[in-house]
Amino acid sequence: EKDGYPSFMEKEINEQPEAVAATLLGRSDIDGKLILDEMRIDADVLKTINKIIVLACGTSAYAGQVAKYAIEHWCRIPTEVELSHEFRYRDPIVDDKTLIVSLSQSGETMDTLMAVRYAREQGAKTIAICNTNGSTIPRESDAVLYTHAGPEIAVASTKAFLAQITAAYLLGLYLAQLRGNLFQGQIKDILADLGKMPAKIATILDNSEQIKELARSMADTRSVLFLGRHVGYPVAMEGALKLKELAYIHAEGFAAGELKHGPIALIEEGQPVIVVVPSPRGRDSLHSKVVSNIQEVRARGAMTIVIAEEGDESVREYAEHVFYIPETTPLLAPLLTTVPLQLFACALATAKGFDVDQPRNLAKSVTVE
Ligand code: F6R
Repeated sequence: EKDGYPSFMEKEINEQPEAVAATLLGRSDIDGKLILDEMRIDADVLKTINKIIVLACGTSAYAGQVAKYAIEHWCRIPTEVELSHEFRYRDPIVDDKTLIVSLSQSGETMDTLMAVRYAREQGAKTIAICNTNGSTIPRESDAVLYTHAGPEIAVASTKAFLAQITAAYLLGLYLAQLRGNLFQGQIKDILADLGKMPAKIATILDNSEQIKELARSMADTRSVLFLGRHVGYPVAMEGALKLKELAYIHAEGFAAGELKHGPIALIEEGQPVIVVVPSPRGRDSLHSKVVSNIQEVRARGAMTIVIAEEGDESVREYAEHVFYIPETTPLLAPLLTTVPLQLFACALATAKGFDVDQPRNLAKSVTVE
């Protein structure tokens, strides 16, 4: 059932082109009109919401952070992301103009279920983005947008994460369409870019040997730092989480802009730092700021490993290792930049002899609070 792969995790990483393609399938027409049949919340209600709160835990919460950047940019609806277990216990401000978007691969995470129940009691409308048909969270929500990643067996989430991000983009575009925030042509263009993602992910997978080899050479590493900015920030945190979970290595993801506010003190000779570099075609001057961050940590002895967009030569002189990902719309980049980080964690953990499918102390779905 592992289809010849040594682990479910490797199989699932390699299934990501299909996971994204299946999640997009049948959800828009050729004119770029979103068709979300399962969206059983009245269009009029969705037009009047004035706030979105995304609720999730762990990897799903990082998908939620990517969703926030996309939804706010496309729909201009204030969007916050909160860990489900924090949300319910802090007297949050929720009413019938609040849209709750829960993200849960399993649909059974107790913390998220309780948070959704609580929000519903306060009158909020709830949409579940979920990978498991008929599970509890979608059953208890007003609407559901299923991700079609297929069953995820490995404890650490990979293909479900990319599928959650894909579904969140669809939801963002749907709301933008409904509320008139984007022109139809713009939506069509973004959908076309999304449609190219499966092939681009496959390209990364076809060229995975270089990053796996680097990972294997780092089996004795004690700590790895991850830096990213904008949508690269949640990707950095996800890369760090995968490494903690699978390889039991201390890892932390930072927003690159935070570096000088503290974390740069951690840099010493040989410290590996993985940097997710924004596209040079992206917003403002983020690219050059992150390139400066690479220079800063390198000047203090860091071993820099860089994930950058194809054709971005500016990073080469500051990086020990560069991994290129195909070009795309900057907001959609997490569907690509995440993949090398998954491959890195999986290969490093395998080199250490660990079972990547069943990391110690973890369960696939956390059904207790
Ligand atoms: C990490 C991981 C966990 C889950 C989290 C939420 O690899 O798998 O962090 O993402 O427990 O699970 P779901 O999405 O099922 O609610």
